Amino acid sequence: MMRFTFFLLLTALLVLSLPAYRSADPATPAELGERLFFDPILSADRTISCASCHKPEYAFADTLPFSLGIRGQHTTRNTPTAMNMGSRPYFFYDGRVATLADQALHPIRNPIEMGLPIPDAVRRLAKHKQYKRWFADIYHRPVDSLALGDALAAFEFTLETADTPNDRWLNGDTAAMTASQRRGRQIFLKKGRCFDCHFSPDFTGDEFRNVGLYTGAAHDDVGRFAVTKDSADLGKFKVPGLRNVAVTAPYMHDGRFRTLREVIDYYDQPINFVKNPVNADSLVQTPLGLTEQEKVDLENYLHALTDDRFQKK
Ligand code: HEC
Ligand code: HEC
Repeated sequence: MMRFTFFLLLTALLVLSLPAYRSADPATPAELGERLFFDPILSADRTISCASCHKPEYAFADTLPFSLGIRGQHTTRNTPTAMNMGSRPYFFYDGRVATLADQALHPIRNPIEMGLPIPDAVRRLAKHKQYKRWFADIYHRPVDSLALGDALAAFEFTLETADTPNDRWLNGDTAAMTASQRRGRQIFLKKGRCFDCHFSPDFTGDEFRNVGLYTGAAHDDVGRFAVTKDSADLGKFKVPGLRNVAVTAPYMHDGRFRTLREVIDYYDQPINFVKNPVNADSLVQTPLGLTEQEKVDLENYLHALTDDRFQKK
């Protein structure tokens, strides 16, 4: 009987505390940024939030080649992961923005994505009973665009992922990766030439490179060239980091490859996919000549870069 009463009490306590927990006010920029990230209030017609395209379950990326913005419009590039942004020196595939806080304002005013001019966004939040108070409590001033960008960036800075088989293996846990994954790592480092571009803890040197997808056709995405107007940058894109890449299909700036295997087949024999690339990097000029087993091993290794929270149970 004692035990039953105790159980009842505990349940009552839990039920009582749940709504309180849910409505708890954000107390830090990151907590406020999290609210904003998931709130469609930042889009013109209140239908799209950052999370509409950067979905938590897909490592804050999307499963479509091109994502859906307001009024059924499609983005012109594939949505990249918004995780592991903390060490990036610039943002977007063409690197046109230098800070995460500045980046966060771009999708809000982008007419395809959220379509809300920043002054309107600020006015909306300032009129909203809760946001008005939260911004005042956390930033000690009325809502402004700097605080808006700062809060969203603060949330994104929390999205670092380092609980992966590859990280554990590097830290000395020899059983963390399978034999195939360990062989795949060697291919990544040497025969596959992957590491020449995908290096550093997040598997990107943050350089702009041309992997041979650009042909100079009228509709082709010129990449970095749009920013620099330097013809040497035609078809160059920011090397994407590869953490959690197994859950962020489809791949490349235009989402043209549906699977990691397709990406690997591409790097192995680019000529089978794109006939006359313009300005392709010397690293992708000659075929890799990977065997079937090597391709399987390399793909298995890419799966070892997936954080535990996304590993299929
Ligand atoms: C309609 C879909 C969509 C929405 C909504 C959206 N994004 Fe994005 N996001 C994209 C696409 C597409 C890109 C890549 C665009 C490019 O490179 O030119 C991107 C790029 C980014 C990047 C840069 C990633 C990198 O590797 O450089 C970050 C960070 C980001 N978005 C955060 C946000 C935040 C914060 C919001 C909400 C304020 C948001 N996004 C809303 C589609 C979206
Ligand atoms: C010359 C530099 C370079 C080399 C070598 C290279 N990559 Fe890449 N990688 C890039 C760039 C740049 C992109 C983005 C291209 C785009 O979006 O058009 C990319 C994109 C990718 C993507 C898609 C990521 C995403 O989120 O869409 C994967 C996966 C990938 N590379 C894996 C590899 C593997 C595996 C190898 C070795 C077999 C390799 N890369 C070799 C530069 C390189």
